[in-house]
Amino acid sequence: MNVIVTGGTKGIGRAIAEAFFQIGANLAICSRNQADLEALKKDFDQRREDQSVFIMQCDMSSKSDIISFAKEVLNQFSDIDVLINNAGVFIPGAICDEEEGALDLMINTNLYSAYHLSRAIVPNMKTRRTGHIFNICSIASKIAYPNGGSYSISKFALLGLNNVLREELKPHGVKVTAVLPGATWSNSWAGVELPRDRLMEAADIADSIICAYQMKPSAVVEEIIIRPQLGDL
Ligand SMILES: NC(=O)c1ccc[n+]([C@@H]2O[C@H](COP(=O)([O-])OP(=O)(O)OC[C@H]3O[C@@H](n4cnc5c(N)ncnc54)[C@H](OP(=O)(O)O)[C@@H]3O)[C@@H](O)[C@H]2O)c1
Repeated sequence: MNVIVTGGTKGIGRAIAEAFFQIGANLAICSRNQADLEALKKDFDQRREDQSVFIMQCDMSSKSDIISFAKEVLNQFSDIDVLINNAGVFIPGAICDEEEGALDLMINTNLYSAYHLSRAIVPNMKTRRTGHIFNICSIASKIAYPNGGSYSISKFALLGLNNVLREELKPHGVKVTAVLPGATWSNSWAGVELPRDRLMEAADIADSIICAYQMKPSAVVEEIIIRPQLGDL
């Protein structure tokens, strides 16, 4: 089984990579920081010799980087079973007050990343009539909230992309699942003074994805909505 995780070095992406590694997957992982990628590869390689981990530095807000990444991954693993569109950036703000360029940055990183990479990888899945794409959206894909700003716009759009892909790929045997987490511990929450158990653990998001992935070909989980037990922050 060959699995792509964008932004797989930290947070939710890292937990998803770990969960697929645990069930025997080969991994293709990108992020912008080469040192983080090498440390991640070293960690996985030390644990299993029979699973391969391909890493590549890639800025998912850049179309040319995404196309190069897809090409390299398809060279490494001729078939792709799972694509996790996870890389994303969260800059809080309000539409009328946030810095110029905030929308461009978050649309590029949170939406176009998934659009370009899916277009590059889907033909491989369609030909084989199998595959599963998970788009890491957010509760902010459904609910507008103060300080959500352009992040929320980009995540509403990502859910739109997800839903269109789901309809398009239904007849081709390819599954598409939107994952909508609420507040989950990661770098995005660094410095926030809250008890640890007020937020979710990234491993729980990853486990829900593995459950959805392991269903029979006749069933697809279309949406995973997962929130802190005490509700949104
Ligand atoms: N944490 C939450 O509460 C929460 C809730 C709902 C949804 N989400 C979504 O879950 C996803 C992961 O979030 P997270 O909280 O786990 O974030 P995180 O801890 O900041 O990790 C983000 C990962 O993506 C990579 N990344 C960021 N920008 C990138 C770019 N332009 N190109 C390539 N890689 C990039 C980062 O590595 P580099 O920085 O080295 O590139 C890192 O590996 C995001 O789409 C986020 O919107 C998070």
